[in-house]
Amino acid sequence: MRKMTKGMVSALALTFGLASMAAAEDVEVLHWWTAGGEAAALNVLKEDLAKQGIGWVDMPVAGGGGEAAMTALSARVTAGDPPTAVQMLGFDITDWAEQGVLGNLDAVAGPEGWDKVIPAALQAFSKHDGHWIAAPVNVHSTNWVWISKAALDKTGLGEPTNWDELIAVLDKMKENGITPLAHGGQPWQDATIFDSLVLAQGNDFYKAAFIDLDPEALGGEKMAAAFDQLIKLRSYVDDNFSGRDWNLASAMVINGEAGMQVMGDWAKGEFLKAGQKPGEGFICIRFPGTQGAVTFNADQFAMFKVKGEEKVKAQLAMASAIESPTFQSAFNVVKGSVPARTDVPDTDFDDCGKKGIKDLAEANTNGTLFGSMAHGYGAPAAVKNATYDVITAVFNGEYTDGASAATALKDAVAAAQ
Ligand code: GAL
Repeated sequence: MRKMTKGMVSALALTFGLASMAAAEDVEVLHWWTAGGEAAALNVLKEDLAKQGIGWVDMPVAGGGGEAAMTALSARVTAGDPPTAVQMLGFDITDWAEQGVLGNLDAVAGPEGWDKVIPAALQAFSKHDGHWIAAPVNVHSTNWVWISKAALDKTGLGEPTNWDELIAVLDKMKENGITPLAHGGQPWQDATIFDSLVLAQGNDFYKAAFIDLDPEALGGEKMAAAFDQLIKLRSYVDDNFSGRDWNLASAMVINGEAGMQVMGDWAKGEFLKAGQKPGEGFICIRFPGTQGAVTFNADQFAMFKVKGEEKVKAQLAMASAIESPTFQSAFNVVKGSVPARTDVPDTDFDDCGKKGIKDLAEANTNGTLFGSMAHGYGAPAAVKNATYDVITAVFNGEYTDGASAATALKDAVAAAQ
């Protein structure tokens, strides 16, 4: 075997030395931010941590809404090898916290005063037994519509403020020869539209049905009306909607092939990445009939218990970086969401971002801030998935009337509890 020179030995030692040092400071992050706008926002965090000497081991799991990511997470935890930090939503965080596998972030959350600046609606999921176990990155909301300005202008109609006006715009867009509603046929996307249809039936109704899981609301006439509207919206999508990724539906609106998309405000990240600006290329409105209320889903990084002081230090440094006001502004400006902290100025946000911040503050004050069922902030995963099954069956034509769908939803939710 060739004799190693002194130079080779020292190079090897240096490599191992660097590797072990880097390894100690690395955070392995499981997430599903793989679309263009999402990746651009994630880079803000990666660069932020790199400046603090914290290396980023990326574990992307593609698939909007995070179902695939949560499946991959379970496998890692079952193998006794959880990632350092995991993008997670709502009741999924609560479920993992109850298993006692999440780390304690009080060492940074306390001195940094997170309790004072993170809205109570988020803290309900970021804390467990009084301890911080997740760092909220943002507040997204689902009751938005993203409309091509050129396509809307061509209809000669204004921004729709109610159901009838929405249908008039969709019909005109159809007459003008474009796909009126861009959509990706995946259960989480069908459910994202349905968040808005249920909310548009009334704030109290959304709370009764999707937060309190009241069987009377779930199976009643307002739910039937919401399902009838979902069946109507189905008639405005193109033939190739099934299985389409959400960001490809956004691209249809961006390139003028479609008139609008009903989607959470992560869609704005795609418009921005394509160089479009609010009021010029696209318009953002609250889903008609939901103005004054917000169905929210906050991305949070849940931190798993990890071995080794260095690993814990890196985890706490990541949590602290996430909650820094400068990061909160820089990240959310790109991501399309609004800051998880209430003390971040809207200076750097565009008009849609400014509206999002204002809407959230008002909803928080007026008690009209509700967890998105579609994104895991309404009810635990088993119930969320039961709603997915019925909503997608309706969207795919397995129910012809809202009343039978509402009955099916009531039964499915009861069975999942
Ligand atoms: C949501 C998540 C967003 C975005 C979206 C599409 O659940 O909160 O950050 O990733 O899914 O995948």
